[in-house]
Amino acid sequence: MPATTDLAIVLTNSGLLSTPFVSVFSIGFAAFVVHKLVSVRAEENKLGAIPTVGPRGFFGFYVGAFRYLFHAKAMVEHGYRTYPDGAFKIATINGWVVFINGKKMAEEMRKAPDDQLSFTHAVSETLQIEYTLGKDFDLHRSQVVRGGVTKNIANRFDDIRDEIMESLSDEIPVSDEWTKLAPMPAIRNVVTRAANRYYVGLPLCREPEWINVTMNFAVKVFLVVGRLVTPLPSAMKVIIKYFEPMIKERLAKEEECGSKDWPDKPNDLLTWLLDEPPVGEQHTVYDLASRALSVNLAAIHPTSLMLINTLHHLCVNPEVVKALRQEIEETVNEFGWTKAAIDNMEKLDSFLKETQRLSGSNASGVSRKAVKDFVFSNGIVLPAGTMIACPAYSLHHDENNYKNPMDLDPFRFCKVKVESKGVTQQQMVTPHPDYVLFGIGRHACPGRYLAVSLLKGILSHILIAYDVKLEKDEGFPKPQWFQDVCVPDMKAQVLFRRRQD
Ligand SMILES: *[C@@H]1O[C@H](CO)[C@@H](O)[C@H](O)[C@H]1NC(C)=O
Ligand SMILES: *[C@@H]1O[C@H](CO)[C@@H](O)[C@H](O)[C@H]1NC(C)=O
Repeated sequence: MPATTDLAIVLTNSGLLSTPFVSVFSIGFAAFVVHKLVSVRAEENKLGAIPTVGPRGFFGFYVGAFRYLFHAKAMVEHGYRTYPDGAFKIATINGWVVFINGKKMAEEMRKAPDDQLSFTHAVSETLQIEYTLGKDFDLHRSQVVRGGVTKNIANRFDDIRDEIMESLSDEIPVSDEWTKLAPMPAIRNVVTRAANRYYVGLPLCREPEWINVTMNFAVKVFLVVGRLVTPLPSAMKVIIKYFEPMIKERLAKEEECGSKDWPDKPNDLLTWLLDEPPVGEQHTVYDLASRALSVNLAAIHPTSLMLINTLHHLCVNPEVVKALRQEIEETVNEFGWTKAAIDNMEKLDSFLKETQRLSGSNASGVSRKAVKDFVFSNGIVLPAGTMIACPAYSLHHDENNYKNPMDLDPFRFCKVKVESKGVTQQQMVTPHPDYVLFGIGRHACPGRYLAVSLLKGILSHILIAYDVKLEKDEGFPKPQWFQDVCVPDMKAQVLFRRRQD
């Protein structure tokens, strides 16, 4: 539907709306609406056995989809409570979505093979990959490189940490006076630089044009979903401008040394990409560059949002600051500033995980698309083409899953460890049926290891170097909802100063 709005804008601006054109256009538009109504009805009939949350009737889909824009959380919560161990459907502007409820069905969904319930089909459709990353973009292959991205965090942690410190002091002055700022631009810069120090190293990770594109592409892409114009070509032009000479240099080195393993070969994204088998006959600059863009797309925006959410909680819970600082100092004494130290910061892990559970969860998560008709063991049938989701917010706020689910219990997940007598704590990166922030099963977000390392790396440095508080003493800044998406209040101003104690 956004495409239609845009089309109308383009037409209005171009003066194409002369009288004969208007009538052709309105006939076309009417045909489009009828077609849409018919297809939505057809889909609804196929899903007839699955109960609907929201209005019914001929225009029910439209009223429901409109309501979902502003009340998604409440609608999903209603379905979650009304149909335990079942499924329910909700109208959204992208069509019907069927929510899967209960552990048994979720488990069956997790186990279903990709040729039945497909993750890539679902993601391609929701992100409209064709528009955002181009129609040749191979989502499945883009995930292959994440092996390299995950494996090398410990080896390259010095670089990541160095960039975190540099970028934080560039963005947030270390001063004895309080500095007030809306943290998002600063945090997004820090995340972009730290991730790109890891991906492409110095000096490229500080190149303003590179940062600009990798950082803003993610934001723009989500604004333009479904539009006629995509930010892809202009972003790709910049990525290729910097990436192409690097690729040529690497290939020349390889030739010169007669080996893929030449001395001092950088351990970075380009190496990991080149070490993968090519998509076609051989690697192309365009393909390598588009994958460099996609790993940025995946990392920067979600990680920044999570960090802001946790930062807001840190401001309104000063009592956790002391405990976290103590843990950071102890682990760093033992392990130095290494990935091992970060991995051993269990309270910090719990606090991050708990703050995302409480106020960083979208209403829906884990999408799949039925590629064939799919039958659950309880008899519920999802016809081919059905979009499927799980009620993420509801799972994270169910009193059967979490004691006092509406309260922040900063070290909730450390207690789990104590109660289970030392079995390793359920860490933030570990998917769990009751914790679906990063998805479930084999399609859990492959970038989560890097994301959590960045989150813990940045937050631990903020805790060690700064005191933080909110400008207004009015409690936790209320997150904003639009459709199923929950984002922190970006207007909340945070004050930073050099740590005083
Ligand atoms: C960043 O991108 C915007 C457009 O997206 C452009 O106007 C601006 O000049 C760019 N800045 C740099 C440093 O490249
Ligand atoms: C919520 O959805 C938005 C848009 O799809 C996404 O950018 C964000 O990362 C999601 N948040 C979580 C915690 O999954």
